[in-house]
Amino acid sequence: MTRVITIDGPSGSGKGTIAAGLAERLGWRCLDSGALYRLSGLAAARAGIGLEQPTELAQIAGNMQVEFRDGRVFLDGEDVSLDIRSETAGNAASRVAAVPEVRAALLEWQRAFARAPGLVADGRDMGSVVFPDAGVKIFLTASPEERAQRRYNQLKEKGLDANLACLVEKIRERDERDSNRSVAPLKAPEGALKVESTELSIDEVLEQVLKKVRDAYPDLFR
Ligand code: C5P
Repeated sequence: MTRVITIDGPSGSGKGTIAAGLAERLGWRCLDSGALYRLSGLAAARAGIGLEQPTELAQIAGNMQVEFRDGRVFLDGEDVSLDIRSETAGNAASRVAAVPEVRAALLEWQRAFARAPGLVADGRDMGSVVFPDAGVKIFLTASPEERAQRRYNQLKEKGLDANLACLVEKIRERDERDSNRSVAPLKAPEGALKVESTELSIDEVLEQVLKKVRDAYPDLFR
């Protein structure tokens, strides 16, 4: 059976960085499930499909032509790597992600990413819904202010427009929506190692995560 490590947490908690670092270290694949919701939001907006059309939204999400290549993301052949990283795309993602039909359309697709030797999957419901049998589950958090600051730095690095006060507000809004939706709300899955990363560097978080991975899969470190 393919080994799976899940890393869940709110927006800007550092899941993506930790998941990518861990996958590289282990030589495993990495699933950025948030990208699939961001792509669904973008594809729906482009097709002019609104939240009041759940069946059509699910069709769009389930039939998108997506390619992850050389660190870039392509939607129907077009490089949308930058488009899906904007705050607008994040908010659109969080809206379509609350539609149960969309979540159902993406479920098996996400599970299909799990191939030998292993998968590191990051998102909101990786450990609770998509991979409930994962061997290691991590729940990563940080204060909204720290997460907004990290997002601000990321956006600036990419040359995108950003306003810190606005980001704090957007992060709180998104947390609220992601935590209170009826399907797969954001919460720590049972048995997860909780890591509060506000005061920690990336390396310190990775160290805690690796310790847990070593305990679960000692053979990987021999
Ligand atoms: O992680 P990221 O910020 O890219 O995710 C964008 C949005 O997609 C989140 O705010 C959340 O609403 C949704 N999402 C989700 N379940 C996942 C991953 C992301 O609902 N597993």
